[in-house]
Amino acid sequence: MIKAITGTKDILPSEISKWYHLEKTVRDIFNYFNYVEIRTPIFEETSLFARSIGEATDIVSKEMYTMIDRGGTSITLKPEMTAGVVRAFIEHSLGEKSSLNKLFYISPMFRQERPQAGRLRQFHQFGAEALGSSSPLLDAEMIEMAFLILKKLGLNDIFVKINSLGTPQSRETYKNELRKFLSDKKEKLSEESKLRLEKNVLRILDSKSHQDQEILNNAPSIFEFLDSSSLEDFDIVKKYLTDLAIPFEVDTRLVRGLDYYTKTTFEIISNKVGSQSSLCGGGRYDLLVEELGGKPTPGVGFAAGMERILLACENEKSLNLPERNIDIFIVRLDKELSFKVAELASNLRRNQLIVEYDYLDRSVKAQMREANKLNSKFAVILGGEEFSKGELILKNLSNGEQENISLNDFNKLVSRVKEWH
Ligand code: HAM
Repeated sequence: MIKAITGTKDILPSEISKWYHLEKTVRDIFNYFNYVEIRTPIFEETSLFARSIGEATDIVSKEMYTMIDRGGTSITLKPEMTAGVVRAFIEHSLGEKSSLNKLFYISPMFRQERPQAGRLRQFHQFGAEALGSSSPLLDAEMIEMAFLILKKLGLNDIFVKINSLGTPQSRETYKNELRKFLSDKKEKLSEESKLRLEKNVLRILDSKSHQDQEILNNAPSIFEFLDSSSLEDFDIVKKYLTDLAIPFEVDTRLVRGLDYYTKTTFEIISNKVGSQSSLCGGGRYDLLVEELGGKPTPGVGFAAGMERILLACENEKSLNLPERNIDIFIVRLDKELSFKVAELASNLRRNQLIVEYDYLDRSVKAQMREANKLNSKFAVILGGEEFSKGELILKNLSNGEQENISLNDFNKLVSRVKEWH
């Protein structure tokens, strides 16, 4: 039997209401902040990701789904959205049409990571990008939107971590200092951190090794090297978050796994999802548009993992969604009435009612059972003596009350069902 590829997951009908609820919450909140949806292709030229996310990052060096298409172009399934959004922003001159572009997305992403709870190879992100302003108020707005969405989903055991990575110049100075500090301790570092010392020294800061973290306790902090504009902006972000009553902590070891960041970075962590605890992450990327060939345009954004968020909701038991139900199940007493039933169903559906009936020639008892199984609010019973009198029976399945309605009084039938809410 052919099974789904490791690290991919079917979203089954029994789970879909959670996804609808999550997507609706996301769309509502982005809408209040005036973010508008953008959809970009599932695959892009490989070089787009290599140039934006960074050659030395785990995503680009180990995790991308890349192939050569029949035309000889190297294409990659998107591992994240920021690169594609910035590419579209430049390609369609969105910066010329509007001085600030506030964009959001909901989309599948692809990374060939080792699958585990909360880590998939095809997963879904929602996220936002604001292009055109370097105001730190937008940095705080990103954190606020992410926080509000998570709160709206009932998540309580979450916390916000923020940091500043400064300008490339201040970061370069810091990287050199950190490398200097770590090089005589190299032998004590984990194997992974040893490799990162030359290529990606900042990532050592979020090493999972206990010993590495102990060594880092005496390491210089990035805040000793930040330029004044980064420090000022960071203060504004902190002030705004405090005013908005969004609790946060400063974590000077929060470096993120993508190279395009400048200044503010942040993550929201859940205590309820095990090791893959980061529900969302983001930050400012003031040089990315220029690096990808556009006019210098500052940007800031974040993305959140939807499977992880749903896992956190499940573990916090925060979503109590009503079970799906339908409005009417039409029970047919006589086989000869099949066509009448189909016609009635069609007319009711055209009046925005959710209607189901039996397609399997089942007995009356089995049809009633099905009506209950589908949580139908009403049964319409068609046939028998009533039918010969030109009537049908409308039965309220939650209290058992029933009334006869003339077959000619279709409007009465519709209004009875719609009234009952
Ligand atoms: P990221 O930290 O790589 O950032 O991913 C954001 C979120 O996507 C993570 O916090 C996590 O919840 C989820 N995620 C990542 N990988 C997986 C996976 N393999 N399985 C399940 N969930 C996963 C970005 O993608 C940046 N583009 C965010 C950003 C937007 N920065 C600025 N703008």
